[in-house]
Amino acid sequence: MVVISLGGSIVYGDMIDFNYISAFRKFLEEKSKNTKIFLVVGGGKSARDYISIASKLGMDEFSQDRIGIMASRINASLFIGNYSYPKVAESVEEAVIASKNYPVVLMGGTEPGHTTDAVSLLIAERVGEKRVINMTSVGGVYDKDPRKYKDAEIIRRMSYRDAQEMFLNRDMNAGLNLPFDLISIKIAERSKIEICIIGKSIEELKKAMLDGECQGTVIGITND
Ligand SMILES: Nc1ncnc2c1ncn2[C@@H]1O[C@H](COP(=O)(O)OP(=O)(O)OP(=O)(O)O)[C@@H](O)[C@H]1O
Ligand SMILES: [Mg+2]
Repeated sequence: MVVISLGGSIVYGDMIDFNYISAFRKFLEEKSKNTKIFLVVGGGKSARDYISIASKLGMDEFSQDRIGIMASRINASLFIGNYSYPKVAESVEEAVIASKNYPVVLMGGTEPGHTTDAVSLLIAERVGEKRVINMTSVGGVYDKDPRKYKDAEIIRRMSYRDAQEMFLNRDMNAGLNLPFDLISIKIAERSKIEICIIGKSIEELKKAMLDGECQGTVIGITND
């Protein structure tokens, strides 16, 4: 079994990435022959565009989150296939029930107040999986924003505490643009789930699944 959180900006960066989605679907079709897969897809640029208009229209944060959730579900629906539960699961419970009969279950967001990354951790918590693979557009967690600073350095291992401290001073608004959110880290910590943050490459994903090799950042229990 594997729980994957796929960053929305990978699927929908400047526009919908047909080639990537198509390659990922092939991967799902192949892998689903011998592995159960929960795939949670984020909102990406489309979510952020909708959220920014909703914000300008004066809508509250809850309503903005709702809109982001809808956008993430549209992104997730592009991964539905013969190999999967034929709709985007709308709750963790629905995903768990669906997984009894289908090897692949797709999800976007569920409820306002947390990200799609947090949804992936809640699934892992519910099914007793001790690791979540988080695919991002930047390949890991850095000491500063790698899109803004060329000299940003990747952090290979972080404790839950390190991760919490890193994000503590950031605002948590709809469409949050960080490699992880605080709620996800808290869920990971309480159930001792390791988070492996990698890039968008399907090869990297296969490595993370097969040999547990995490090429980006591991957030989890550290000995130091
Ligand atoms: N210290 C940091 N390390 C890594 N990324 C950072 C950091 N600070 C800010 N960022 C930003 O966080 C974002 C993380 O990218 P990611 O691919 O996870 O977004 P996403 O999951 O696609 O978003 P969503 O699914 O919500 O649309 C990047 O845009 C990156 O520039
Ligand atoms: Mg992400």
